Order: sequence, then C-alpha cells, then structure tokens
Amino acid sequence: MSSRSSEPRVGLRGPVLIAGGAGYIGSHTTKLFRELGVATVVLDNLSTGHRRFVQGPFEQADLGDRATLARVFAEHRPAAVVHFAAKTYVGESVTDPSKYYLENVAYTWNLLEAMRAAGCRDIVFSSSCATYGNPLRVPIDEDHPQAPISPYGRTKLHMEHMMEDYSRAYGLRFAALRYFNAAGASQGGELGEIHVPETHLIPLVLFTALGLREKISVFGDDYDTPDGTCIRDYVHVEDLALAHVLALSKLQAGTERLACNLGTGQGFSVLEVIETCRRVSGRPIAVVQAPRREGDPPRLVSGGSRAFDLLGWKPRRPGLADIVGDAWRFHSAEARRPEA
Ligand code: UFG
Repeated sequence: MSSRSSEPRVGLRGPVLIAGGAGYIGSHTTKLFRELGVATVVLDNLSTGHRRFVQGPFEQADLGDRATLARVFAEHRPAAVVHFAAKTYVGESVTDPSKYYLENVAYTWNLLEAMRAAGCRDIVFSSSCATYGNPLRVPIDEDHPQAPISPYGRTKLHMEHMMEDYSRAYGLRFAALRYFNAAGASQGGELGEIHVPETHLIPLVLFTALGLREKISVFGDDYDTPDGTCIRDYVHVEDLALAHVLALSKLQAGTERLACNLGTGQGFSVLEVIETCRRVSGRPIAVVQAPRREGDPPRLVSGGSRAFDLLGWKPRRPGLADIVGDAWRFHSAEARRPEA
C-alpha cells in the first residue's frame, strides 16, 4: 500500500464501500482512503451529496433499494463499509420523524443485512454527540449517559444499538464515531461543506462575509456561558476522515466494537466563531440577535481521550482559525464558480 509520509501507517484491506461518500464527511474520507492506496466504492443516492465530490467508482443507489444493494455487494465484494448515509437535520427530525426512522434506522438495517448476506463484517459508522442529549456534565466523555433529546439523536442511538446487537449475535465488528461539530474543508480546496438548505454556523457566517447573506443571526445570547452564546467543539473534517481510517484499521486488526467521541476538547462560542471569521476573511460581518433555537444545549465539548487511547487519533488541525481558514478558501472559490 502506498502511503504519504505524513500519514500514519495503517494496514487496510479494501475495497471499502462508502455509503454517503458524496456528502461532506464521506467525500473527505473517500479521498483519504484513496490517497492511502485503499480501493473504494462510493454508494450515494445524491439526495444531499454532490456528484462532483465523488472520487473513484460510484454507484448511484439508495439504501432503501435492497436488490441494488445486493448487486453492489456481489459486484464489488467490499471488505468493509463506512456508513455516512443519513438524514442530519435536528429540526426536521422533530417535524418529520418518519423520514429519520426510515432513512437512518430502517435503511441501516438494510445495509447490515446486505453485509451479513455478503459475509462483510466490518463497519465504521457516523454517530453523533447528539446521542448524549442535554449534557449532565461538560466535557462529555464516552461514559456519559446517552439520552438523546431529538428524533435525530434517537435514530443515531438506535443505529448504535442495532450494530451492538448484530455484533454480539452475528460477529459484526463496528466502530461508532460520535462527532462533535464537523467543520472546515479540504486543505487542497477541492472538497467542502455544501448543504441545501445550509443551517450550520460557520458556512452561514462565511456566506455573510462573502456578501451572499446580509447578516448572521445569533440564536440566543442569554445562555449560561461567558458571553451568553452557545459553545461548540468544532473539529476539522479532515481529522474526522482520518479517524475513520484508523477505526477501520483497528477493526480489521480484530477489535470487535468500539465507540468514541471525535472532538478537539476545545469549545468556542457563537460570538468567538463570528470574530474568527471576521479576522480570517478580513471582511465585515453584520450580526443580529435572534431568539434561542429550540433544542440547542448551551455547551457541547468533547471530553476524555478514548479516540487517542483506542485509535491513536489526535486532531492535526485543531485550531479554529485553521478550520475557518480552510472553509473560507473553499466557500470563496465556490462563490466564484459560474453556476454558484
Ligand atoms: N447558530 C446560530 N446562528 C445560525 C446557525 C447556528 O447562532 O444561523 C448557532 C446554533 O444555535 C449553535 C451553534 O451556532 O449554538 C452551532 O450550530 P450548528 O447548526 O452549526 O451546529 P449544531 O451544534 O446545532 O449541530 C451539530 C451537528 C448536528 C448534531 C448536533 C448535535 O451539525 O448534526 O451538532 O447537537 F446533531
């Protein structure tokens, strides 16, 4: 296997089937596997992903389509799966939970069944800090009780439980990676965050800096935090990608199941993020106070060292200015695209 000198040594068997590989974190992870010389096959229905972000072999298919899933496993014979394909809007999960139970829970069952039928036993899976719900203590380590407060968080927890049960009964090996706030873009500038609609803070603030929005609303300024705005743990998308590679290598080396947080352990408030965006972009950014957004906990910061202890994972780009800088380069270039 070829390896960039800066990359860790990982022993990996491919091909790796990447469900949701046209999306934000999935496309960065596909890119990293390929840079490490590991074959990939992206499976994505392009409902929210982007064809131009897909690298390597691609199957446009839906996890709801069991016949196609069986064909994809038969044709590509993946040695492992990395599973990103899911609905991710917390607010929408409250108003339309049916979509979340279908596409997150039921479709994951389809995927696990296809794996069982094909004898494919390793899966790395996108879980979320949303599985912890309103934190009882911050920083949040992996032993914190999982009591999600949204249907989105509950579906992610169901997915974890399903894999745990399959692991004990059928020998599935799985890694649940509980992301905090994914942010940034590839340092090469080719991949980044494009959601329609966009709801995440950093892209929205940068759209404001680019003049694509008039102002950014700060959802609540009376939280029990030093400046009154919510605190989050922003983690670089390339660091998330690296954790998937390391987790798969752990499974392939024999670990049966693992779950760990992926965050930097550092929290930044909404106002600190906006100030960093001002500094990085050198542009003015108009801010307006808005009411609290329902369901936002005041502070979500990752604690513990399990990702380091189990995977040897440590964020390489933990600085908020670096994360915002990579996102700024990506969104500035996107804004110059003729079709943007
Ligand atoms: N925010 C604003 N204004 C905006 C958008 C966001 O003030 O226009 C605030 C939010 O209220 C929050 C912070 O910025 O305090 C970050 O919000 P994001 O929407 O960027 O991210 P969240 O923390 O809400 O969501 C992330 C993931 C979800 C996951 C959730 C777990 O994107 O997938 O963490 O709580 F479910």
